[in-house]
Amino acid sequence: MKKRVLITGGAGFIGSALVKFLAEKGHQVYVVDDLSFGRRELAAVADEWFLRMDIRDSAGMQRAFDAIRPQWVLHLAAVHFIPYCNQHPALAADININGTISVLDAAAANASVEQVFVASTAAVYPIAGGALGEAHPTGPLDIYGTTKLACERIARDFHGTTGKPTIVGRFFNAFGPNETNPHLIPEIQRQVLAGARTLRLGNLDPKRDFIHTEDMGRAMEALLEAGVNGFDTFNIGRGIEYSVREIVEAFARQLGEPLAIEVDPARVRKVERMHLLADVSKLKARTGWAPRWDIDEGVATLLRSDRPVFA
Ligand SMILES: NC(=O)c1ccc[n+]([C@@H]2O[C@H](COP(=O)([O-])OP(=O)(O)OC[C@H]3O[C@@H](n4cnc5c(N)ncnc54)[C@H](O)[C@@H]3O)[C@@H](O)[C@H]2O)c1
Repeated sequence: MKKRVLITGGAGFIGSALVKFLAEKGHQVYVVDDLSFGRRELAAVADEWFLRMDIRDSAGMQRAFDAIRPQWVLHLAAVHFIPYCNQHPALAADININGTISVLDAAAANASVEQVFVASTAAVYPIAGGALGEAHPTGPLDIYGTTKLACERIARDFHGTTGKPTIVGRFFNAFGPNETNPHLIPEIQRQVLAGARTLRLGNLDPKRDFIHTEDMGRAMEALLEAGVNGFDTFNIGRGIEYSVREIVEAFARQLGEPLAIEVDPARVRKVERMHLLADVSKLKARTGWAPRWDIDEGVATLLRSDRPVFA
């Protein structure tokens, strides 16, 4: 069934992949984004379906919901680059927490809204070894994870007061085209595309669960199609973890040239998680979803582009 869909943060890295995926599925997609980190050209919707707006503008959000009357709301707008959040903790709290309240207040006031999806993060989990299931105790390490855990609670309260089915998706490490922040993979992409064959990177041993943004879009749609009875939380990851070295090896394989690594002390994090791996059995059982993109295939597409969006 085709839906009227409102996506906040739809001009960003993951949001733009989601917009593309849902539009290709035939849904009518509207985007709200203030373009603070996103780019207008990444959101593949016509101008009349794009609203440049700060999600903290509650009156503006109410007007947008009244005009659009969305059936599905996917709330992705946030600030999330961890070094940026650490430098601007009050701003991160304001945008992530007050912004989520503003979006969900508008959703609560609008009878058209059938389901809501709120983007959270693996950063709500504490440092742990092994695959993390949704029932694992939370314990964020930083202001970013703390704001997102607050968003999860606000989403649960939203469900409690409105009765509207509400899904929280805990995203693991996204990779794919149009990265807006200098995370590890686009930073390697930037250096390689600039001609470097000795890469300057930070810690090489931490492992992360990298999931392609197109697979994330499919997972979000699958969850909304399957629906939830009340409020539920799902990990959205691939279920495989790779070290920084293994990612560099994937770039070398796709490039067909060796790549050396030089540790840059300025990039070495003092507090580092050595593992961040999703248990995605709940998502798979609920939806039948399975990831389609592996690391090498994703890296190959990154090497075919000119440069990452942030560069
Ligand atoms: N990238 C990842 O690996 C990752 C991992 C876990 C969770 N997440 C979550 O996924 C979501 C999307 O992240 P992303 O990687 O696409 O980041 P992004 O920065 O590319 O996208 C966020 C978008 O929100 C917009 N935005 C920011 N503040 C806004 C405001 N006040 N009003 C309106 N729009 C605003 C930005 O312009 C941007 O387009 C975020 O909620 C983030 O916390 C991302």
